[in-house]
Amino acid sequence: MPDLFSPFTLKDVTLRNRIVMSPMTMYRSVDGLMNDYHVMLMGSRAAGGFGLVFPEQLAITPDGRTSTSCGGIYNDDQIEGLKRVTSIIKDMGGVAAIQLGHTGRKGSEVKPWEGGRQLAPDDPNGWQVVGPSAIPYGGKYSYPVHELTVDEIKDIHKSYAQAARRAYEAGFEWLEMHYAHGYLGASFFSPIANKRTDQYGGSLENRMRFHLEALDAVREEWPERLPLTMRLGSDDLNSEGVQFDDSVVAIAKMKEHGLDFADLSIGFNTDEMKDVPFAQMAFMVERGTRVKREVGIPVGVSWNMGLPAVADRVIREELIDLVFLGRPALSNPHWPVWAARELSHNDPFSLVPEDWAWWLRNFRAHNECIGWPALDEGARKVA
Ligand SMILES: Cc1cc2nc3c(=O)[nH]c(=O)nc-3n(C[C@H](O)[C@H](O)[C@H](O)COP(=O)(O)O)c2cc1C
Repeated sequence: MPDLFSPFTLKDVTLRNRIVMSPMTMYRSVDGLMNDYHVMLMGSRAAGGFGLVFPEQLAITPDGRTSTSCGGIYNDDQIEGLKRVTSIIKDMGGVAAIQLGHTGRKGSEVKPWEGGRQLAPDDPNGWQVVGPSAIPYGGKYSYPVHELTVDEIKDIHKSYAQAARRAYEAGFEWLEMHYAHGYLGASFFSPIANKRTDQYGGSLENRMRFHLEALDAVREEWPERLPLTMRLGSDDLNSEGVQFDDSVVAIAKMKEHGLDFADLSIGFNTDEMKDVPFAQMAFMVERGTRVKREVGIPVGVSWNMGLPAVADRVIREELIDLVFLGRPALSNPHWPVWAARELSHNDPFSLVPEDWAWWLRNFRAHNECIGWPALDEGARKVA
């Protein structure tokens, strides 16, 4: 029976454990480039024991970014900075994953802490946003949306393929396409955002065509031996939007097109959501288990997975295969070590580089003075 610390192998890639640093947009790039900040952020999480480490969503075109401060993989000059990121992750024992994205009608923003508003197309830091249909998201995303032509959709698929080529050159070993959170892929899948009457709209088969063609295009450049995965907006939590049953059907079809793993999230194609579960622990797990069992594909989920006993239990019970951590990975670079201590792992410091672990194991200190509260046997949470 696997647990949170068991290795996980997919294709030619083996992760040292089941703990993933989920992609998180950081608004720290200039011209889409990775820099010292990203090397620090990813390097520290890999050194802290995360098995799979994602930088933020990287845009496949400049207008696929969230803001002009967001990372990209749309030109070859960006490969060098990405190599620094993959190299530090690998050096610290992790596997480097990339998330390719296009923000679609949710792009052209300012940083959240500067108000997060959408900028007009003629603003020096803004651009014309695009989508499957000329329907703005609403709320703060109020500017007109350009409806993509079929030729423009084909160009976007070419951009995904070129980004995959760069990702491989930069040393990534796991590729995820970001088709959740109201971004371009998510909006093609959702009847709320997609009102097209051509081959990309209407029926479920048509609404997943964007995804299937993108998978085919990416696989042309991304080696068969490396995992090709997708974060899917699998439920809009709205009766007019994506229904989870349709997502199960779509993922089965994607598997036929080479999808190796499904990372399930919410559609976020509308603010009008019913039965919003965002305060509930581990609320995506049930959906993940259904896809794992019915489609027969390995699955990971995020959302409120940061309690070690819960993260461990869902792996032990084989409900899902990988645990994605967003906010816990931001707040605690050593979350895996903390979890290992909470779960009575026999050697929690095996999760950090050996050149730290050796000292922590061998250089005796007062029990309370190694940077962690002393473990009280009775208080340990065993899953
Ligand atoms: C600061 C921040 C930035 C995020 N950026 C992305 C992103 O670039 N791509 C993505 O798929 N999800 C993004 N997310 C969502 C996380 O990857 C994760 O799915 C979500 O936070 C739920 O996991 P959690 O409960 O562990 O935080 C972001 C979340 C946060 C907090």
